[in-house]
Amino acid sequence: MYQQHDTMSDDNPIFDQLKKELLEHFEKIHGMEPFIIAVAPARVNLIGEHIDYCDGFVLPAGINRHVVIAAAPNGTSEANLHSTMLPDQPATVMLDEPQTPGQPKWADYIRGVFDGFCDKGFWPLPGFDAVIHANIPLGAGLSSSAAIEVAAATMVEGLLGIEINPKNKALLCQRAERKFAGVPCGIMDQFASVFAKNDHFVLIDCRSEEAQPIPFTDKSISMVIADTNVHHELSDGAYANRRKQTEIALSIIGKESWREVTMDDLDAVKEEMNEVVYRRARHVITEIDRTQQAAIAVSQGKTGEVGEMMAASHRSLRDDFEVSCKELDAMVEIAWDIGIDGGVLGSRMTGGGFGGSTITLVRTEKVEEVMAEMRSRYQEQTGIKPQIFSTRAVDGARQEER
Ligand code: GLA
Repeated sequence: MYQQHDTMSDDNPIFDQLKKELLEHFEKIHGMEPFIIAVAPARVNLIGEHIDYCDGFVLPAGINRHVVIAAAPNGTSEANLHSTMLPDQPATVMLDEPQTPGQPKWADYIRGVFDGFCDKGFWPLPGFDAVIHANIPLGAGLSSSAAIEVAAATMVEGLLGIEINPKNKALLCQRAERKFAGVPCGIMDQFASVFAKNDHFVLIDCRSEEAQPIPFTDKSISMVIADTNVHHELSDGAYANRRKQTEIALSIIGKESWREVTMDDLDAVKEEMNEVVYRRARHVITEIDRTQQAAIAVSQGKTGEVGEMMAASHRSLRDDFEVSCKELDAMVEIAWDIGIDGGVLGSRMTGGGFGGSTITLVRTEKVEEVMAEMRSRYQEQTGIKPQIFSTRAVDGARQEER
């Protein structure tokens, strides 16, 4: 079990342990040391939900949960992929053939990345053996899939001895998710995993596709992530359906981009759209506004002031966008109920929704108490055991020394 409370010191025992295990697995399977170690973090989003595909802003951070990949060239035209999470499902991918989704399914994220390199003219890739290891809770809305893609792209860069422009790398990984995992996602998750920075949030302008680090150095505030253990499948249609509804709304409003739309513009065409589409649009407009305000507050060192914006974001996702669920609502309401006197500065669902995790900002000296209370009250109310941990904001994808 990994340490539950992540302090903001320079030591990172959680990551060191993960890397040590990776090297042990690689040596056990291949009897040698790897040539490359590639690393990519999962992400949590502070605010700006379901607006990355609406030209909005998002404000994620990398979290201290990673995908790590160890690899060595094998002189063939095959990639032999071994996942420590699914050790009985190894994958062999032919690198001199066109990539298509296949079995085992987990390898599709990586096939999608190979396909992206092929699309950029890197074909065929040299053969290699790789072991993939991770400590990210799966299906928890923390973008484990983006972390696999970004770690795989970082590994391929290492094998080829090249570095592609970080923005293009993130877009290549987003393409993999869309084309090979079938989720019509926006750019947030892959950009977060690439551009994450120690003690920073990343303000991503999803229209210009620019990422800007926003310092989050206030050590008196910690991020707590609570995985409800209710897990979603974003490829099951609900995500695509929300996306479609925002497109319908924008076409009725008649503007090029959501960035130009105000509540007055929406209200002017209220009669022309059904009530559901109206609410979806209201979420997009208000969330874009909230995220900009939150980024200003964090950049002025006033992170403690984003609590009300986080609450408004959650209510909007619950009532207008309808991507929350009773377990997410329960977890958030417990945090709200603990409140400022108990050390909670703000709480909301994070990520795609329909299950997954919440993010809560907590006074650092109260973290253990708040986590214990959230854990016991959530379990009491739902009968489900959650996974709750605190995290610092960590660096984005990179190659590591052995
Ligand atoms: C998922 C998608 C992202 C984003 C979020 C919701 O994580 O992959 O692109 O749309 O949902 O904010």
